[in-house]
Amino acid sequence: MPLKILVIGSGGRESAIIYAIKKSKKDTEIYCAPGNGGTSGAAKNIPLKQDDIKGLASFALENKINLTVVGPEIPLSLGIADEFAKLGLKIFGPDKKASLLESSKKYAKDFLNRNSIKTAGYMSFNDYGEASGFVRQKAHPLVIKASGLAAGKGVFISGGLEESIKILNSIFNEKIFGESGETVVIEDYLEGFELSYMVVTDGISYKPLITSMDYKKIYEGDAGENTGGMGAITPNPFVSETLIEKINKTVIEPTLAGLKSEGINYKGVLYAGVMVQKDEIYVLEFNVRFGDPETQAILIRLESDITDLFFSVIEGNLKDYELVFDDNRSICVVLSSAGYPKEYKTGCEISFDGLQNLNNSENAGYYVFHAGTKKTDGKYYTAGGRVLNICAKGKTPDIINIAYDIAGKINFGNKYYRSDIGKIYA
Ligand code: AMP
Ligand code: GLY
Repeated sequence: MPLKILVIGSGGRESAIIYAIKKSKKDTEIYCAPGNGGTSGAAKNIPLKQDDIKGLASFALENKINLTVVGPEIPLSLGIADEFAKLGLKIFGPDKKASLLESSKKYAKDFLNRNSIKTAGYMSFNDYGEASGFVRQKAHPLVIKASGLAAGKGVFISGGLEESIKILNSIFNEKIFGESGETVVIEDYLEGFELSYMVVTDGISYKPLITSMDYKKIYEGDAGENTGGMGAITPNPFVSETLIEKINKTVIEPTLAGLKSEGINYKGVLYAGVMVQKDEIYVLEFNVRFGDPETQAILIRLESDITDLFFSVIEGNLKDYELVFDDNRSICVVLSSAGYPKEYKTGCEISFDGLQNLNNSENAGYYVFHAGTKKTDGKYYTAGGRVLNICAKGKTPDIINIAYDIAGKINFGNKYYRSDIGKIYA
């Protein structure tokens, strides 16, 4: 009997998770809900939305799914793990209460304070009048955040009072984030270098993933708006073993201890976005899931069996699982639709004609993960802001040229990508 696995989500991260599952020696049968144009090859796409918790649970029950892996934050914040556990279904991802670490920035900040973990000074507000009164007395720059989920777009760094008032007005009065903007966190602006740091935990022990660097801004040189991520590299060239140890001791371990002491049994990926300022480490945010696109760059280096990893987390024996990565470097370049993270056009046909060896790409030294794509009558079309992820790995900076060579050979209307991903290695 094959192991039946359901992956929830439709991005490049989920494509990479499916790629890693395919590498397992186990006989697997993979479903993806709702999936994208690429996952319809490696898995069977199921037309259920990521927020249709009841529908997904019924599907998993009826189809005797042995393992469900949740990619995005929305189903986790809606309590998919609680619902599946109630039905005796195995699922990888934290429960609703634990997911508040990502779905409520106010909750996360209060949690950090309660547990004496460093984070930027902050205040939270539910009222435009009070928030605007507060920013009038504050030195700028400062950081204004919608507390709820906003697909990485709810954070503003404001350089001056006029800008702050405009931002608060758009969140509180124009309600650009809907309910997610009912509470706003205003915090001190921190300078330093940023790092995405992910661990997997079964609530008892934890294991770090390899380090990565996410390129969050839309333009070269880290200019312009924040996005979900325009590229990633592993390892993060600025991170030493000493720093990793420090993050483990000052962020990860107190966070896991705090969760435990508050009665939360956290199982899944804990992602800390941190700012390193001289010798101090500040938590900027938590995510309760794998990062996208960091995961794509990370999973192509995974050597151990990811299905065993998922089960060891669910079953609480992570300490016996040996998490192994190869010793390459890796890169992921995001091809997006011009206009993202704001308005963009979809429905443009994607041409892979420039790639002779696409079906054998791993042997040819590269990976193409689909994200916002759709397959219709055998052809691929753009269907989202982040469309494709081009990855490569190896020991030398050559991997950058490989990824960009492939990026240049794939064509679609309004293609846009940053040209400086990984250039730090060159
Ligand atoms: P968040 O979603 O909270 O991580 O914020 C998104 C991005 O905004 C971060 O990756 C940082 O680049 C930036 N940011 C968030 N909080 C701060 C802060 N307190 N000081 C400086 N930059 C910040
Ligand atoms: N790349 C950042 C995130 O996944 O939130």
